[in-house]
Amino acid sequence: MKIFLDTADISILKNAYNSGLIDGVTTNPSLILQSGQQPHDVYQQLQGLGIKDISAEVVGESAEEFLLMAEEYINIGPEITIKVPCTEEGLKACKALSDKGVRVNVTLIFSLAQAILSAKAGATYVSPFVGRCIDNKIDGIELIASISEAYIIHDISTQILAASIRDVDMAVNSLLNGADIITIPPIVFNEMFKHHLTDEGLEIFNRDWNKVQHKV
Ligand code: G3P
Repeated sequence: MKIFLDTADISILKNAYNSGLIDGVTTNPSLILQSGQQPHDVYQQLQGLGIKDISAEVVGESAEEFLLMAEEYINIGPEITIKVPCTEEGLKACKALSDKGVRVNVTLIFSLAQAILSAKAGATYVSPFVGRCIDNKIDGIELIASISEAYIIHDISTQILAASIRDVDMAVNSLLNGADIITIPPIVFNEMFKHHLTDEGLEIFNRDWNKVQHKV
């Protein structure tokens, strides 16, 4: 079970990453735009922080265009995972890259059929978009469960990376239903630590501890 952060905002990411609980980072063109930085700068900074798995999304119309852009990102270092969209051209690029031993994350997965084809194309990861499924009245958690079942039946090594996670329930339910990895915004990661009973219990323990110390 792994936790990735879904962000390109280095300053926000640093804090969560320092927890020591983070296994990787995913980005997409929208997150890069929000960061206000150029993609290479973002990836080099993430690499500098010691992050071992960084998904960098390629953009284009054809497999050739995806591969050209992938080449630039691969040169950054072995930490880079190439993210391609789940289209016919995207999966051609996925096959070419995975045949060369490059990790590929196939993104924008909304159906079991897409997850099956991605596995055939040698994807390291498939990214079902749980939140956007739910936005569109598709049961995103059920999708994860069905991908997991199919991969287990056919002994497929492609890992399920649950994406578009908006809250803690989506995060934990994805893991409970077969996701190998969740990629979550830092704000959701921070929420995962919290429970009001922990806060209340801690307050009592701290109060009692102060009383113990005043007795000696
Ligand atoms: O990992 C994909 C994610 O960044 C998309 O999330 O909330 O825009 O659907 P969202």
